[in-house]
Amino acid sequence: MKEIIIITGAGKGIGRAIAIDFARRAKEKEQCNPILILSSRTRSDLEKVAEICRDLGTETVITETDIADTKATRNLIEMVMERFGHIDCLINNAGVGRFKSLFEMTEEDFDDTMNINAKGTFFLTQKVFPIMEQQRSGHIFFISSIAAETAFKSSSVYSMSKFAQNGLIASLRLYARECNVRVTNIMPGAVYTPMWGESGEHFKNVMMMPEDIASATVDAYLQPGRTCVEEIVIRPTGGDINS
Ligand SMILES: NC(=O)c1ccc[n+]([C@@H]2O[C@H](COP(=O)([O-])OP(=O)(O)OC[C@H]3O[C@@H](n4cnc5c(N)ncnc54)[C@H](OP(=O)(O)O)[C@@H]3O)[C@@H](O)[C@H]2O)c1
Repeated sequence: MKEIIIITGAGKGIGRAIAIDFARRAKEKEQCNPILILSSRTRSDLEKVAEICRDLGTETVITETDIADTKATRNLIEMVMERFGHIDCLINNAGVGRFKSLFEMTEEDFDDTMNINAKGTFFLTQKVFPIMEQQRSGHIFFISSIAAETAFKSSSVYSMSKFAQNGLIASLRLYARECNVRVTNIMPGAVYTPMWGESGEHFKNVMMMPEDIASATVDAYLQPGRTCVEEIVIRPTGGDINS
């Protein structure tokens, strides 16, 4: 049976790289046999990623879904269940970062960041977990951040949202261990993606690449079912860029 893998924020950066890595592994090494459900808010991004995955031979479905909209995420899960009847992997990757001084953060920065990174991730996970619980199988990933454990002056609200994700992960794990569901928390340091905007160019040579996070993620997924890689902390070899 094909594995149904949902990736949020699959249009750019790390989510895009994870989708392509799954498709590549399926083609080159035949390590998995996925159907990819790619979601984000921008259809044109998703179409480009889907084309790459389909060219590699992987069936791919795209869906424009804002994860901050709980009705939209409910529709997404209902669509997947109606069409495929099971969910094998959820990759909670969609997220935003607003990086500025604590005193410059606006209410909009706060609401957007918390609604997407914390609230959206929570309610999507809340919808998917009971399906996996019933299946007694499944794997939920969170692309959290080292900012979930380490403070940076420019990332107060982002850190709050990622600390919140870590709280969710710790709680979810208590349920997941009881029903054979794997939960993996990936905490990357700086990765060269569109999230960094123009400043990404400045730091590019001391950052990781999205493919680095993707291959660690897919490796964790491909472990035997009896094994759960619970946490991966992955940093640039030179350490955090603004520590
Ligand atoms: N880059 C880093 O240095 C770094 C380090 C540690 C952790 N992370 C985490 O890794 C994840 C991916 O980050 P990235 O660097 O790859 O960012 P990115 O390049 O900006 O990509 C983020 C993706 O998430 C989607 N997204 C954003 N808001 C969304 C929403 N409300 N609903 C659905 N999709 C949404 C974006 O598409 P649309 O805007 O079109 O929806 C985009 O496809 C994030 O959770 C981030 O916090 C990143």
